[in-house]
Amino acid sequence: MSLQDLLAVVPSGSEEQALVRAIDWTRLPRHVAIIMDGNGRWAKLRHKRRVEGHRAGIASVRDVVETSARLGLQVLTLYAFSVENWKRPKTEVSTLMALLKRYLRIELDTLLRNNIRFRVIGRMDELPIDVQKELQRGMDRTAHATGLLFNIALNYGGRAEITDAVRRLATDLLANGRDAGHIDEAMLSSYLYTAGQPDPDLLIRTSGELRISNFLLWQIAYAEIWVTEVLWPDFRRRHLLQAIADYQKRERRYGGIAPPTA
Ligand code: FPP
Repeated sequence: MSLQDLLAVVPSGSEEQALVRAIDWTRLPRHVAIIMDGNGRWAKLRHKRRVEGHRAGIASVRDVVETSARLGLQVLTLYAFSVENWKRPKTEVSTLMALLKRYLRIELDTLLRNNIRFRVIGRMDELPIDVQKELQRGMDRTAHATGLLFNIALNYGGRAEITDAVRRLATDLLANGRDAGHIDEAMLSSYLYTAGQPDPDLLIRTSGELRISNFLLWQIAYAEIWVTEVLWPDFRRRHLLQAIADYQKRERRYGGIAPPTA
């Protein structure tokens, strides 16, 4: 994927084209994570049922996945269902599950064609069995893809992830007769769902809320946060490009100080 790939699909003379040209291709975020929020409000504004907001949100997912692949990002993570989302009405939960299944069934060929690897992060074993099967099929079929890694966070919670990691790590230490003094940050990271992946450089949240909502708590330690008022079903390529352009204007210091200017 390249600048040419993206320029080929943006209308010439458009604001989008200007954004594509403004992006520094040598300093792209490696990992972009998105909290997709505002589906319910989008539907309410249109006097529709909440689930219509989720349905409309699929088009945004499609656009963002395609754009991320064209940009050549390494990892895209979308927060689709949290461990807390089970508290929603049963019909909303089952519609979300059905939408996910349908999305994968329809999009699998496109993912394969675009060399996109699909992964689920979260407690997948607690999802309905038919959903698990569809997700597993998606992961198996795309396992050899070498382009964008597309993580869907499903039945995901940052605290649950760290708890799961610590449990497995403690079990392994005990089994190998090693003590807790061996634990360091790299070791704990290697037990997270995202083991081996770069941490998010850029975290996007739609619909204007200023919350992390238990998303990738460990991994976003140094992420730049970009919040937009745009509701998820209205989020498109140009918003992602804008977020990346803004990200590139930030100075990342990782707790240090800015390098001296000449
Ligand atoms: C938040 O909006 C959105 C969700 C909980 C679900 C997001 C799911 C999708 C976009 C569809 C399926 C996803 C994939 C990856 C195929 P909200 O309902 O909390 O909105 P509100 O805050 O306005 O009520």
